[in-house]
Amino acid sequence: MYLIKFLIFLFLLKEGEQFANAFFDTNKKIEIAKALDEFGVEYIELTSPAASEQSRQDCEVISKLGLKAKILTHIRCHMDDAKIAVETGVDGVDVVIGTSSYLREFSHGKDMEYIAKKATEVINFVKSKGIEVRFSSEDSFRSDLVDLLSLYRAVDKLGVNRVGIADTVGCANPRQVYELVRTLRSVVSCDIECHFHNDTGCAIANAYAALEAGATHIDTSILGIGERNGITPIGGLIARMYTADKDYIKSKYKLHMLRDLENLVADSVDVQVPFNNYITGYCAFTHKAGIHAKAILNNPSTYEILKPEDFGMTRYVNIGHRLTGWNAVKNRVEQLGLSLTDDQVKIITAKIKELGDIRPQKMEDVDNLLRDYHSAIISGDESQVKSVLSVVPVIPS
Ligand SMILES: *[C@@H]1O[C@H](CO)[C@@H](O)[C@H](O)[C@H]1NC(C)=O
Repeated sequence: MYLIKFLIFLFLLKEGEQFANAFFDTNKKIEIAKALDEFGVEYIELTSPAASEQSRQDCEVISKLGLKAKILTHIRCHMDDAKIAVETGVDGVDVVIGTSSYLREFSHGKDMEYIAKKATEVINFVKSKGIEVRFSSEDSFRSDLVDLLSLYRAVDKLGVNRVGIADTVGCANPRQVYELVRTLRSVVSCDIECHFHNDTGCAIANAYAALEAGATHIDTSILGIGERNGITPIGGLIARMYTADKDYIKSKYKLHMLRDLENLVADSVDVQVPFNNYITGYCAFTHKAGIHAKAILNNPSTYEILKPEDFGMTRYVNIGHRLTGWNAVKNRVEQLGLSLTDDQVKIITAKIKELGDIRPQKMEDVDNLLRDYHSAIISGDESQVKSVLSVVPVIPS
């Protein structure tokens, strides 16, 4: 495995804009770009300035913000686009051309010789302006391997900063990714960037396989939003990387900003953060089963690979249900500053389970029950204890 320390993320505002619901105006783009920059991303890629006049102006405005992150824009392998792009003040240009037989036949209809000629012209031009250039194929996994490798070898010799592999249609699996990146690694000396779509749910696994095989840059977007059902989500990739090298990830990114960043983007494209989202989903750190809760309370790493506090999140042990256990209840009793013996905790746990058989209990209702039971015990009045324990839940109609 290659050193994952070379990992660098690219964060695509461009891919986000290809998401079905997305429309980012200039102010929104600036707000998101600043937030990404503060989070610690290395690159921000913007929609092609050749797409529209507003897109061109946005490239200019964001390039002038003076962010630490490098600003890139994404263009077709075409001199017209390249000329517009280099004038916007961006730090680099990502050039893409379709190389699969499908694209060659049904999209631009160009052969490999033509592609190599165009690529050379565009790359030399961008380099002459002293800015970064990445050259990527599109639909790389359905392109002829021999053609691809000879093209990459040629552009590497021209001195590109990175070559890119793109699973544009989302068909690749981790083993194929590993093999292709591994092969490419032995052919070029420049950096390798990878781009994965999530059509078959492999975007994170593919990104990780690419890094293991020697890729240096992964395209990600907030919440994975992008064309069709999106690309590698930053949160999920961070979770994956964190389990491999926690200290590196923690030193590189302001992880506690992740939730706000996701909310910012979710709001601006009018979607909800999924309930089971990596790291920030509302139940990502909720523990329910009694035996899990007991172990979690003794030592969180028994059932948690991510530390919630590293992400500004908090662990939540849900005890208001019939799977609860007395250890978890005891912990809550202590949190509430009440004191009960273990036997008393077991009795009140049995009551919570009985109520939980009828329906899940809200945390505040459970807390009230614990407090009532505690005061009844303190009062020493047997009948008061009985009355707390005989509470009957309202049966939902
Ligand atoms: C990607 O695919 C996985 C697996 O099917 C799915 O759980 C996830 O919600 C998808 N989207 C993102 C942003 O990860």
